[in-house]
Amino acid sequence: MNIINSIADMQALALAAKREGKRIAFVPTMGFLHEGHASLLCEGRTRGDLLVLSIFVNPIQFGQNEDLDRYPRDMERDCRIARECGVDIVFTPEAAEMYPQGFQTSISVRELSQPLCGDSRPGHFDGVATVVTKLFNIVMPDVALFGRKDYQQLAVITRMVADLSLPVLVEGMPIVRETDGLAMSSRNAYLSAPERESALCLYRSICTVRKQYAAGERSTGRLHQAALSIIQAEPAAVIDYLEFRDGTTLEPSFTAADGTLMALAVRIGKTRLIDNTVLGKEL
Ligand code: PAF
Repeated sequence: MNIINSIADMQALALAAKREGKRIAFVPTMGFLHEGHASLLCEGRTRGDLLVLSIFVNPIQFGQNEDLDRYPRDMERDCRIARECGVDIVFTPEAAEMYPQGFQTSISVRELSQPLCGDSRPGHFDGVATVVTKLFNIVMPDVALFGRKDYQQLAVITRMVADLSLPVLVEGMPIVRETDGLAMSSRNAYLSAPERESALCLYRSICTVRKQYAAGERSTGRLHQAALSIIQAEPAAVIDYLEFRDGTTLEPSFTAADGTLMALAVRIGKTRLIDNTVLGKEL
């Protein structure tokens, strides 16, 4: 496994692979890998001749009071997991090379970036869209894999790739959960044992909504109320948002149907967790 820091070196390797007719599969991450990332890498291994993992804690997608400085990092462990998953290249650039003095370009996917996480994290998706565009230009993937836990991120990137005619296939992969249902996230590392227990209210609310939907409930107002009462019963949980939206446009949904997205962000202590489910689809 090759560990590359320089943009020019990564581009040279990508071009050489392309000249040899190799397919490049790419999994962009901010590191502190968990089983969710591992499942993306395993899928990537089957999709490309060259599997590239990027590890870059992207400063421009963090707001002023967010967790950029304390974002968990463990390069040694990440490399061990990457090796186990058959990664060929780990691309881990320095922020100073990604954003040199004078950097001033931003990609904005206007409408999809507004609601949900965009509302509570202004500028976040511009930071994501900008870094992902840069990473695509550097790694030149044929296929890039993203987890559906970051549903809005996937929607933004899919739209951006279509709008800018970027020559890459974007694939969303299922949410990977712990055995008790907590969605895997690098931020779970922040949770104390009691907070970890409280965090299960997200999954419980999703299961309740799915059950009521399966039993015929179609009012998003009533589904919202059912989810709300589960989360509000958890003293450590503070809701950032809990919304039902169209799974494609992210417009508000008043009537639930197959394809309706239930998305939520909840603070447990200082940790903000997100989760989602698409009604009528597998969990
Ligand atoms: O999902 C993430 O880890 C990040 O948002 C991404 C896509 C790697 C961009 O920094």
